[in-house]
Amino acid sequence: MIRVGILTLSDRASKGEYKDISGNAIKEILQEWITNEIEFFYEVIPDDFELIKSNLIKFCDKLNCDLIFTTGGTGPALRDVTPEATEAICDKILPGFGELMRMESLKFVPTAILSRQTAGVRNRSFILNLPGQPKAIKECLEPVFPAIPYCVDLIGGNYIKTDESKMKVFRPKSAIKK
Ligand code: MTE
Repeated sequence: MIRVGILTLSDRASKGEYKDISGNAIKEILQEWITNEIEFFYEVIPDDFELIKSNLIKFCDKLNCDLIFTTGGTGPALRDVTPEATEAICDKILPGFGELMRMESLKFVPTAILSRQTAGVRNRSFILNLPGQPKAIKECLEPVFPAIPYCVDLIGGNYIKTDESKMKVFRPKSAIKK
């Protein structure tokens, strides 16, 4: 069993002006790839620095999520503050995730460089920022996901298993459990 938090940042979706397609896309992709039983926790909130921080802290410290995904608020607009809020509550930042997501996303869209998305860890939780565009979810998750289960091993989280025909992850041989 693993626990996954999904936090959608959108002023308009939080007011109910449109449906949160990206948050649901994250859930569907994870259900397709991960073979553990998953308990999901899900919030849609406005782009507010303090609210983002308190929701991330809740997912980490109260709900003990192994994985936390944010979607939205990574761009250059005044209200985009997801990466800052993530950095503010993390113990460690993992800049390689943002670097790889931007690099791979450039193959799809030139505006990929506008996303300041990052990743980090707090206690035993791994946090990843994804852009708000629904189509960006798979484009970003696919290249970085192979490294996520071992990262969760290293911080003391639950052992994440995947359906290798859909998502092959990498662990050093000594870290593989049958
Ligand atoms: N990355 C991928 N893979 N696909 C996309 O469509 N959209 C870009 C970028 N990264 C995009 C992407 C755009 S247009 C913006 S403005 C930034 O992500 C930030 O988006 P956000 O503010 O919704 O997080």
